[in-house]
Amino acid sequence: MEIIIKPDAKSGCVLFAKIIADLVKNKPNAVLGLATGDTMEPIYAELVRMHQEEGLDFSRVTSFNLDEYVGLGRSHNQSYRYYMEKHLFCNVNISTDRIHVPNGLATDIPAACQRYEEEIKAAGGIDLQLLGIGRIGHIGFNEPTSSLASRTRIKTLTEATIRDNAPHFENEKEVPIRVLTMGIGTILEARCCLILAFGVKKADAVASMVEGPITSMVTASALQLHPKTIVVLDEDAASKLQLRDYYRHVYNNKPAWQRYE
Ligand code: F6R
Repeated sequence: MEIIIKPDAKSGCVLFAKIIADLVKNKPNAVLGLATGDTMEPIYAELVRMHQEEGLDFSRVTSFNLDEYVGLGRSHNQSYRYYMEKHLFCNVNISTDRIHVPNGLATDIPAACQRYEEEIKAAGGIDLQLLGIGRIGHIGFNEPTSSLASRTRIKTLTEATIRDNAPHFENEKEVPIRVLTMGIGTILEARCCLILAFGVKKADAVASMVEGPITSMVTASALQLHPKTIVVLDEDAASKLQLRDYYRHVYNNKPAWQRYE
């Protein structure tokens, strides 16, 4: 894993968005794996700014979102499809037929999940998978004890995740308890994983992901097995990393050709 510690969330977001934009410029038909959540909102805002002010072109990009609530359709204002339309899809020139979000209203869920996996394969696989991390160390909605070989499927959310997501709903009872999510096996097949975390509330999860044992109790720790994962943190999210000075030293001494900025 490559750990990049930025002084604050703002500079972390600018770097994170730049890594995405550089890929889209170098490979206009890139396949992006997209995430939702509070952490990603400033990223999409920055990509929209780059599209509007600098002409960043999404017309040939294909996207696959990580997850969706079971029972919520695209018109529900808490569905992840709605989130994506609002924060990114409606504001850039991505083509609707290249957008993929798991179908939370699917009647045959196993078949829909299988089809999602096949669509990822047919698109040539994911070039860059964006990820946030939950306070319990999940990526996607791969809750603790998810198989590290799992594929896209239905999952039941933990109470902790339901509580974390509740502020977006009128009350906690409104939060769907089930989701469709790419599996850890699906995520690990992306050619590059790019994960972002800010704030002290993510510090324990980040430390477990980077420096803890690989365990299904912290599904993000499976990224230790991935050959190219970039982790972008602010100082608070990095505060519990034992080797944070070493990560800074590595980053500051990278040869120019390896740097992102
Ligand atoms: C969302 C997702 C989740 C979130 C994570 C962090 O698509 O897959 O893993 O990335 O729960 O959420 P925030 O950013 O709201 O703290």
